Amino acid sequence: MRKFATFEERLSSWTTDAMVSIFNLDGTDAKLGVSPTNNEKFGDYQCNAAMELARSLKKAPRQIAQEFIDQAELPDFVEKVEIAGPGFINFYLSNEALAEYVTAMGEDPMLGVEQVGEGKTVIIDYSSPNVAKPMHIGHIRSTVIGNSIDRLYRFRGFNVIADNHLGDWGTQFGLMLVGFRSFVDEAALEKAPVEELERIYVKSYNKSKEDEAWREKAKAELVKLQQGDPDNRALWGKFIELSIDEFNTIYDRLDVKFDLYRGESFYNDRLPKIIKALEERSLAKESDGALIVDLEEDEMPICIVRKSDGGYNYATTDLATVESRVEEFSPERIIYVTDERQQLHFKQFFAISRKLGMSANLVHVWFGLMRLPEATFSTREGNVIKLAALLDEAEARALEMVKANSPEMPEDKQKDLAKAIGIGAIKYADLSQNPQSLVTFTWEKALNMEGNSAPYLQYAYARISSVSDKYKVQFPEENLDAYSINIEHDIERKLAVKLTRFPAAVQAAAENYRPNIMADYLYELAQTYSSFYQNVPFLKADKGPRESRIRLCQATAKVLQQGLSLLGIETRERI
Ligand code: ARG
Repeated sequence: MRKFATFEERLSSWTTDAMVSIFNLDGTDAKLGVSPTNNEKFGDYQCNAAMELARSLKKAPRQIAQEFIDQAELPDFVEKVEIAGPGFINFYLSNEALAEYVTAMGEDPMLGVEQVGEGKTVIIDYSSPNVAKPMHIGHIRSTVIGNSIDRLYRFRGFNVIADNHLGDWGTQFGLMLVGFRSFVDEAALEKAPVEELERIYVKSYNKSKEDEAWREKAKAELVKLQQGDPDNRALWGKFIELSIDEFNTIYDRLDVKFDLYRGESFYNDRLPKIIKALEERSLAKESDGALIVDLEEDEMPICIVRKSDGGYNYATTDLATVESRVEEFSPERIIYVTDERQQLHFKQFFAISRKLGMSANLVHVWFGLMRLPEATFSTREGNVIKLAALLDEAEARALEMVKANSPEMPEDKQKDLAKAIGIGAIKYADLSQNPQSLVTFTWEKALNMEGNSAPYLQYAYARISSVSDKYKVQFPEENLDAYSINIEHDIERKLAVKLTRFPAAVQAAAENYRPNIMADYLYELAQTYSSFYQNVPFLKADKGPRESRIRLCQATAKVLQQGLSLLGIETRERI
C-alpha cells in the first residue's frame, strides 16, 4: 500500500479480502468495502457487506457479521469493531494510527493527496467570454468554478491546460466593423473599451434592422474579413486585444490564469475538413440547403453544421476544436464549464465527435444561473452585471468589516486583507453551492462572519495561526518536531478523523467537478476545530499534551489554507 493510502482504501481492501476468504466468495459482485460514517456513534467506517451477502449465503445479516468478526483478524490500525442494527459492521480506528496518519499528512507538502494525474493531460475550457461584449454572470460563474476545478486537478498532479475559448468569430463582426468606423467615440473607448464596443454593436445592429444598405455593407465587410482583408483583420484584431486586456484585469483580480487564449477563430481553417469527414462517413446530409447531422438515434434534435448561406455553426467550431486539441495535446479528458443553457449543444457535439472517432473523454460541467434577490442576471434582458463593480463593492464592504474588527491595523494591511476577504467572499458564495442548484446571492450570506462563508473560514485560519505564533513566543526553546501527536480527548479524536479525510474530499470534489464538496469539508473542519479550541486547553496545558495540540492546530491550519487555495481563496495570518 502507498504511504498515504486512506483508511477507507486500506480498510476496504482488508474487508474485501477477509470476506472473500471467510465465506469462500468467488466472483461475487456484492460491495464488500467500507464507507466513512458521519456520526462517531457508528464508528469511523462502516461495512454493509453482511446485508449484501445475506441472500446468496442464505444467512441472516447479523449472523454473517458475527461470523465475520469472530473469524477475521483485525488489521493493526483498527481498535475495535461492533455490529449494529440489522448487521452493519462498524470499525473504530486506533488513536495511534490516527495520530500517526495526521502527523505524516501534516509533514507532506501534498497533505497526503495522491498524485494520480501524473503523466495525464486535462484541458479545461472555461470562462470563454465573447469578444466585444461584457462578461455576463454565466461567464463569471464559469471563471470561478472552472478555476477551482483547474486547481483541484493540478493539485492531484494532472498536467492542466486552462484554455479560454473566446468567442472571437461570427457574423456579428461585420456589424462591428461598419459600426466602429462610423460611431466610435475614442474617449469612451479609452475609458471602458468593452462597454464602448458593446454600444457600437448595439447601435449598428439596430441600424441594420431598418437600413438595408447598412446590412449589405456589414455583410460585405464580413466577407472581406473572412477572406483575410488586412484592414479588417487589423481592426478585428484590435477588438480582440482590447477585450482580452479588459478581461485580464478581472482575471488578475480573481487570481485566474490561462495557459491558452485560443478563440474560435483559431480553428477556422479546420472547418471544411470537419465537414468533409462528416460527409465521408455519411454522417451529414443536406436539408433545405443546410448540412445537418441527424441525431435521432441519440434522441436529440438535428444539429446544423453548415448553414444554407455556407457559414459554419458553433457546433462545427467545437468539433474542430476537439480534433485540434486531441492532435496537439492527447488529453485524457476535456472539461467544459458553461451555464445550463448550453447542455444540448454539448450533448450534440459530444455525440458527433464520438461518431467521428475522436478519442478524448468529453465532460460538460454545467451550472445554474445565479440570482440576486432583485433579478436574475442575463445579457439578453440587457441586465448585465458589471463584474468590476461587484468586486469593488465586495472589497469596500470587507474593508468596513476589517476596520471595525481591527481598528489598530495599518491601513495598507487593512486594504490587503479586505481584498482577500471581499474576493474570497464572492468566490465562496458561488463555490459553496451545488453548481447545479439555483443560487441566490446576498451580501449578508457572503460576508457572514458566523456562517458558512469565506470570511468565517479566513478568520478561523488566522485564529489558528495566532495560537501557534503565541506558542512560539511563550516557548521559544521547545522543538515541536520532537513531540508526537497524541489523541486523548474525544474532540481531539474527532478533529484528527476529520483531517484524515482531506484527501478523500479533494478526490470527490475533483472527480465530481464539484468544488462545493471541498467547501463543505472545510466548513465542517473549521467547526470541529472551533469546538476543539473551546474544549481543551492549549497554551495552559501540561507539556506534552500542549505540544501535541499545537501540532494538531498546525495540521488544521495547513489543511484549511490548502483547501481554501483549491477554491482560489487567499488566507492571511493576521486578521
Ligand atoms: N463563448 C461561449 C459563450 O459565451 C462559451 C464557450 C464555451 N466553450 C466552448 N468550447 N463551447 O456562451
